[in-house]
Amino acid sequence: MTEFSFEITTESRKYPVYVGQNLIERLGEIIGESTERAFVICDNIISDLFLETLIEGLRTSDIQTESRVIQSGESLKSLDSVKVLYEFLSENFAARSDTVIALGGGIVGDITGFVASTYKRGMKLVQVPTTLLAQVDSSVGGKTGINLKEGKNLVGTFYQPHAVVVDVCTLNSLPLSEYIAGLAEVIKYAFTMDPELFEFLIEKKNEILLRNPEVVSIIVEKALRNKARIVENDEREEKGRREVLNFGHTVGHAIEICSNHYVLHGQAVAIGMVEEARMAVRKGLLTESVLELLIYVLLLFGLPTELPDDIDFNQLHRVIKQDKKVSDGQLTIPMLTGIGRTTMVVDKVDNLDITKVGGNKI
Ligand code: GLY
Repeated sequence: MTEFSFEITTESRKYPVYVGQNLIERLGEIIGESTERAFVICDNIISDLFLETLIEGLRTSDIQTESRVIQSGESLKSLDSVKVLYEFLSENFAARSDTVIALGGGIVGDITGFVASTYKRGMKLVQVPTTLLAQVDSSVGGKTGINLKEGKNLVGTFYQPHAVVVDVCTLNSLPLSEYIAGLAEVIKYAFTMDPELFEFLIEKKNEILLRNPEVVSIIVEKALRNKARIVENDEREEKGRREVLNFGHTVGHAIEICSNHYVLHGQAVAIGMVEEARMAVRKGLLTESVLELLIYVLLLFGLPTELPDDIDFNQLHRVIKQDKKVSDGQLTIPMLTGIGRTTMVVDKVDNLDITKVGGNKI
């Protein structure tokens, strides 16, 4: 059985990442020595699937466990939910040395990370991501966040977890479209920094689409090692390195907003990567052939590559102009220059021209 573990060393913390099969039931063994009590936070969908197995495993390892289930959905990432979770911890006399476990996708990971980073000025945190998107991106790197009515992730911290445990078997519970959307982030790592991963994705396409756990473990591990390298060099997004992870995300986020989120994050990133690669071609930074390869790989996995028909073009431009990353009308955006290569481009946001190739439905 293919299993990986490696360490991430950032300025604020060094922590292990485990990737493999059936790790949820072995979580107690994996984190056992470091904690006596654990507080598991998950949403109502994940609780039906994995909570019992997780708790049983922890208790077998003599870890005293409490759990709190909250409603699923983006609305979970609110100050109200933070209060509920602080109360859950204080009612149970949680100590700083106890562990908070985030069991779920990116939303649960973001809010649980925020709560763990602020309650008693920081408890131990273990991320157990259950969606591909969270496994290859948000569970590693320490970004936490909650939404205000004025915008997403306006409040948050950089707080590295104490461990990340990725059980790829959880991916079998995902709708196929959500699993495939997660692959967009894997393709992002391949094109921005890992030509070998690019070759591997093409070679193992069928196994990946069938969610073969051996092969999926390999792609998750490769993706996370790439992310680890970036986070180790630029933990707080201050050195111009971590921004490379935003490839496809400037246009992608705007698509998510303009579609009222019916376009999934990964689908939006797929279209965003194509649009941003087209910009690179127009700027003479990228050859048409690499753009075509990007489109080819995205289509190979059934991801969209063109803007859906019903996106309002003008609204899309307006949303991009309001992007958090725009300052003084200038946007810093990572652009692809080859397979595995990028450069940061600073440009006037008005210069971003997006193509519309019609006839697309998602
Ligand atoms: N998801 C991008 C980052 O962690 O920086």
